[in-house]
Amino acid sequence: MIKKLGLNIDHVATLREARKAIYPDPIYAAVIAEIAGVDGITAHLREDRRHIKDRDIRLLRQIVKTSLNLEMSLNDEIIKIALDVKPDEICIVPENRMEITTEGGLDVQKNKLKLSEIIPEFNKIGTKVSIFIDPDNKQIEKAKEVMATYIELNTGKYSEAKTENEIYTELQKLKEATSFATSIGLRVNAGHGLNYKNVKEIVNIEAIETLNIGHSIISYSVYVGLERAIKEMLDLIKRG
Ligand code: PXP
Repeated sequence: MIKKLGLNIDHVATLREARKAIYPDPIYAAVIAEIAGVDGITAHLREDRRHIKDRDIRLLRQIVKTSLNLEMSLNDEIIKIALDVKPDEICIVPENRMEITTEGGLDVQKNKLKLSEIIPEFNKIGTKVSIFIDPDNKQIEKAKEVMATYIELNTGKYSEAKTENEIYTELQKLKEATSFATSIGLRVNAGHGLNYKNVKEIVNIEAIETLNIGHSIISYSVYVGLERAIKEMLDLIKRG
């Protein structure tokens, strides 16, 4: 399966917020990214609004022509905004104020009640729901029970693995989780920590549909420009 690239533009906004300025604007970045050929734009409206702001999400909704994927926690205010904005997709993530970035997958069992309440609401408005989880069959089963369409497998541990053994172990977990998820009718995306060096092995996992990548592409774009940074990643992802 030819994979899709969802570009996470949070860190364009991080740079803007470093100076509380009006640039760089993640909206411009989304336009350039779509022209460069991404399949979707991903942004995380965090509870503390440390990078993406409400204004960004509302403007993105208006200008994104591919697919808008909103990463979000189960916070009531954020859910309300998401239901109003109607992204094409949402990805539900755990959120902790002190973390630098999302640290692990959501505990679906612990949040089962809330997930069972809100997922049908998003399904009703045509927003596809994904849950960000670690490659763990118990979590995958629960994601199916709460009627998610997708899971996004957390590739964070794989990305951080140092030794060949660790990398192999983490990769196996992702492969097995993908097989199990698809066998029970879930669709599978993946992301977190993927870069130009480690993405190939994930591209080789046939059933994964979309890779959501942010930090590595936005960082590389500082050197070579956003268009080239995206095109080099697209080359790796589409070539397989
Ligand atoms: N997917 C999810 C659910 C995330 O929380 C993030 C980080 O915001 C990403 C993908 C992208 O991760 P990275 O910026 O490390 O590529």
